[in-house]
Amino acid sequence: MILPKISVVGLGKLGSPLLACAAAKGFSTVGYDVNDQVSANIRKGESPVLEPGLQSLMSANRSRIKVADNYQTVVRETSVTFITVPTPSNANGRFSVEMVLQAVRALGKSLVKKNSYHLVVVVSTVLPGDMRQNILVELEQASSKKCGKDFGLCYNPAFIALGNVIHDLLNPDFVLIGESDQRAGKELADFYEVFCDNKPNLLRMNWVNAELAKIAINTYVTTKISFANMLAEMSEVLPNADVEVVTKALANDRRINPAYFRGALGYGGPCFPRDNLALGALAKELGLQANIAEATDQINRRQAFRVIKRIEPYLKKQTKVLILGMSYKPKTNVIESSQSIDIVNELLELNALVEVYDPLALEAAKQKLGHRVLYANSLEQGVRKADIIILATPDQTFLQLMGFKFKSETKKVLLDCWRLLDEKRLDKSIQYLALGRGRTVRKPA
Ligand SMILES: NC(=O)c1ccc[n+]([C@@H]2O[C@H](COP(=O)([O-])OP(=O)(O)OC[C@H]3O[C@@H](n4cnc5c(N)ncnc54)[C@H](O)[C@@H]3O)[C@@H](O)[C@H]2O)c1
Repeated sequence: MILPKISVVGLGKLGSPLLACAAAKGFSTVGYDVNDQVSANIRKGESPVLEPGLQSLMSANRSRIKVADNYQTVVRETSVTFITVPTPSNANGRFSVEMVLQAVRALGKSLVKKNSYHLVVVVSTVLPGDMRQNILVELEQASSKKCGKDFGLCYNPAFIALGNVIHDLLNPDFVLIGESDQRAGKELADFYEVFCDNKPNLLRMNWVNAELAKIAINTYVTTKISFANMLAEMSEVLPNADVEVVTKALANDRRINPAYFRGALGYGGPCFPRDNLALGALAKELGLQANIAEATDQINRRQAFRVIKRIEPYLKKQTKVLILGMSYKPKTNVIESSQSIDIVNELLELNALVEVYDPLALEAAKQKLGHRVLYANSLEQGVRKADIIILATPDQTFLQLMGFKFKSETKKVLLDCWRLLDEKRLDKSIQYLALGRGRTVRKPA
């Protein structure tokens, strides 16, 4: 079988793993990015982003990865182009498709001279209506060609979690394909037959259904998270309650699966927090209300405050508070919309002395927080100096805390937001608190 040559436009957190995975599956690939530094890194065989497994995949498949410096090469040398450029949120919560339109305009201009069929695949997250009203119009105008005849246009959103991108791309639960026409959808489905390690369901539909499904899946998942956090808040004030026991019980019901269903801290990162706002903005435009999305967002916004409330009784003048985990989740250096940043800001308002530690995201934290906080060189160093420790991400590195011994006169307070540690295995000088658990009261005799 002759594999199509594929191109990826936008080589960031999603685009560069997509490029490397396609190369690993035997596709000849061409990448393009407006950022020269990103292009230069990939040309040298260096991953432009920190993502587990990406560097080795790039190194092993360098011969099938080319980086173009213009759109003409992208269009001339490949027959399928995936667009993975950013779609940042507007002030009203909508996703801006400006960068997608720039990419599509440039692709369209290069398509003018092409005589053969080309498939354009938008992977960037867009909202219902964008494919038909904006992206199609721009591409047809720039190329002077007809969609469905000269080129195909698909919406193919990605469902990936940073830190797990390679696995998630190659082993999706399903692939969502919003297609302009049969031919376009079939070509993309054929690509995934080769690309995936597993045999996912290939869900083919029109653009608007795929657009709505993408945003709905993300907001549904965040609703599960906020629901579990609502139960966690309740558990904290109910004597002997433990949200873990409650959510595990719920997850035994076949209608509720356990994924993303733990009461702990809120969600963060580049996608989840803005999805509910975007759904709310869309509902408003349609003259409707997305009440569930709004409530999910409200619950998420008060999670950092909930942490502060829990440790406030221990906060004295000049108390040293250590935050463990600055990224929005383990195994990534991304700190965008991280709950830890919100916690730091709340603590600084209360004049606490804040130190932070993260195995991967310390540099990113420095850029964001500057001199407002201190940075621990190691887990042990940070913990020794701290009066209060907030364990904010369930990073396995922090399991080491259970081996630490202290000669401290005063007790340290440790708030474990993810109930990662076993209290019994901690040094006796640590007073352990767990988010999502109520105080223990004596059982009846
Ligand atoms: N990161 C995720 O976890 C994730 C998950 C699902 C969907 N998405 C979506 O994927 C899209 C990309 O996200 P990301 O996280 O990879 O972004 P990113 O910021 O990490 O990378 C985007 C890259 O696109 C480049 N770029 C911008 N405009 C360009 C243009 N006109 N031509 C060529 N390159 C251009 C940038 O230089 C950058 O390298 C967004 O729509 C996002 O919502 C991201």
